Amino acid sequence: MTSRYREVHEAWREDPFGFWLEASREIDWTRPPQTAFDAEAGVYGRWFPDGELNTCHNAVDRHVASGNGERAAIIYDSPVTGTKRRIGYAELLREVQALALTLTDLGVAKGDRVIVYMPMIPEAVVAMLACARIGAIHSVVFGGFAAKELAARIDDAAPKLVLSASCGIEPARTVEYKPLLDRAIELSAHKPEAVVVKQRPQLTATLIEGRDHDWDEARAAAVARLEGGAESPCVPVKATDPLYVIYTSGSTGKPKGVVRDNGGHAVSLAWSLKNIFDTDAGDTFFCASDVGWVVGHCYIVYAPLIRGATSILFEGKPIGTPDAGTYWRIVAEHGARILFTAPTAIRAIRKEDPGGEMPKRHDLSEFKALFLAGERADPETILWAENALDRPVIDHWWQTESGWPMVANPLGLGLLPVKRGSPTVPMPGFDVEVLDPFGRPVAKNEMGAIALKLPLPPGALPTLWNADERFRQSYLTEFPGYYSTSDAGFLDDEGYLYVMGRTDDVINVAGHRLSTGEMEEAVGSHPAVAECAVIGMHDELKGEIPCGFVVLKKGAEMERSAIERELITIVRDQIGPVAAFRRVLVVDRLPKTRSGKILRRTIKAIVDDKPFETPATIEDPAAIDEIRAIVANGAR
Ligand code: COA
Ligand code: AMP
Repeated sequence: MTSRYREVHEAWREDPFGFWLEASREIDWTRPPQTAFDAEAGVYGRWFPDGELNTCHNAVDRHVASGNGERAAIIYDSPVTGTKRRIGYAELLREVQALALTLTDLGVAKGDRVIVYMPMIPEAVVAMLACARIGAIHSVVFGGFAAKELAARIDDAAPKLVLSASCGIEPARTVEYKPLLDRAIELSAHKPEAVVVKQRPQLTATLIEGRDHDWDEARAAAVARLEGGAESPCVPVKATDPLYVIYTSGSTGKPKGVVRDNGGHAVSLAWSLKNIFDTDAGDTFFCASDVGWVVGHCYIVYAPLIRGATSILFEGKPIGTPDAGTYWRIVAEHGARILFTAPTAIRAIRKEDPGGEMPKRHDLSEFKALFLAGERADPETILWAENALDRPVIDHWWQTESGWPMVANPLGLGLLPVKRGSPTVPMPGFDVEVLDPFGRPVAKNEMGAIALKLPLPPGALPTLWNADERFRQSYLTEFPGYYSTSDAGFLDDEGYLYVMGRTDDVINVAGHRLSTGEMEEAVGSHPAVAECAVIGMHDELKGEIPCGFVVLKKGAEMERSAIERELITIVRDQIGPVAAFRRVLVVDRLPKTRSGKILRRTIKAIVDDKPFETPATIEDPAAIDEIRAIVANGAR
């Protein structure tokens, strides 16, 4: 099939506002938008300013109303607990109505924030949809973060209520959520009024009298009320009202609250699931991420449900639960059309199954393509997957901020030729340019900063939560008229983009976005540490892992190895296990310029065994020799 990409892209270029107004027809509106875009509103303009809708209605109610209540909305497959559960749209609606009623009873109203701190269980999806139903703004926090990170999000979002569960199941341990949550609420200045806890069979959490509520008890009461005639209606909200806030790493300890609005979000996901992922009503979609990440918000929960597809909710890991064939078992058993995961997961599978034997043991006849995102997909990993699966393997590039793929190979429009190492071409709405430091477009094939010409399309962030000025400063001031992605790369002669890495201190650990600046703040809080640098070191499996170099204060009387152990614990306690901070080395000095700037790029080049030039402005070249010697001694 020849690709319709160029034709569709051209249609968007010729009439961008008409293009998105047309796309908005896939959504049910209580007041359909007459205007696509208001350039005067918000920070850089707002999409569908006069539209009004409810996202939960679009994701659940409308499918039941159109007679598809029996179709599976969610297939929960949890090898870590040995559970499988199929939830039809009508059943999902009942669960969402019950929780929405509970939330309303507990005083949550339109515009209030609700933090969702939950593992990958169906209740997490119900939690998000129930908030959407009543116009409350959810903020899901990933379970791998420590109490301090959760506290920072509680303080920023100021939630009225928290929805949580007793535990998450990691292959090696049960993660007790409730003590982490209690600690976070102790640490935060803002105190939520109520907490609702799903008690899992694996662990019972202790509830605090007066504040905490048992999920199942509240659910039973709400169901009884619904059966008695109580109503739990969808509350119409403005297209520009926030649906959720998702926090992502910035360069300081304060995470950025990315805002997603209701209207643009629904339109962009309905468009992208069909045209990029070639998935529509009745198809089964398997996104093996976590609802705590943007990928999970969009392609586990909202996109498949808005389109009336079936979404697989997977609680497990690509390997070890029980083996490297889990993904293929799930694809076959539930008839998934698409699998979407991170390259790191495929690298983990390849390590266990180098010959690609495991996919062959399953009937993958429904399976059309593998999509990879979250970090650079290295050509070797793509090649292995292509051979093992005999299917297209599609790299695509996006960010928490963009909300959907900025650059992809659109399967739904017909694939363009694959160039391994490139996520392919810009999607309609994302006007991608590569700029020099002065904001001028560079020549084809030349590296530069990747930026998006404003306005951003529907679905991309309109601002940061309560922080318009921080939004401007972080993204819009570096290149006036553009959104700066903080990624670097180049466009080739045929307009294919190559994304080569970040220009800031964000690193990508197993597809998880983390800030080395934040880790430096944690390490620097140890009383013996004078200064430190954390860099992302190349790792065969996880892409990058953090590695710290620290200089101790004069007279710090501690064994180096003991300090190193303490620093690892500090990062785990302050940021969380997901940071995978396991390497830290005490050095006599850090390489710096004479003006005192730590040469992190040089340290990274040494650690990764890459060529580098010693900057002429270096303060003390011996600092480089010391790091070289440590690395040569096999410390990495
Ligand atoms: N709740 C609590 N802790 C969590 C967690 C969660 N939801 N997810 C991860 N962790 C913890 C792990 O238990 C581990 O802790 P440990 O140091 O005590 O062992 C730590 O965080 C790091 O976990 P993880 O990143 O899963 O690394 P791993 O070495 O255990 O597994 C992979 C390696 C490649 C299998 C794993 O990273 C993986 O599945 N990656 C794919 C990620 C993905 O799909 N991302 C999509 C984002 S788009
Ligand atoms: P996150 O906000 O967690 O989704 O992380 C976004 C960042 O991950 C991007 O800015 C990139 O640095 C990186 N990233 C995501 N997808 C890709 C990809 N396909 N290729 C290269 N880098 C990617």
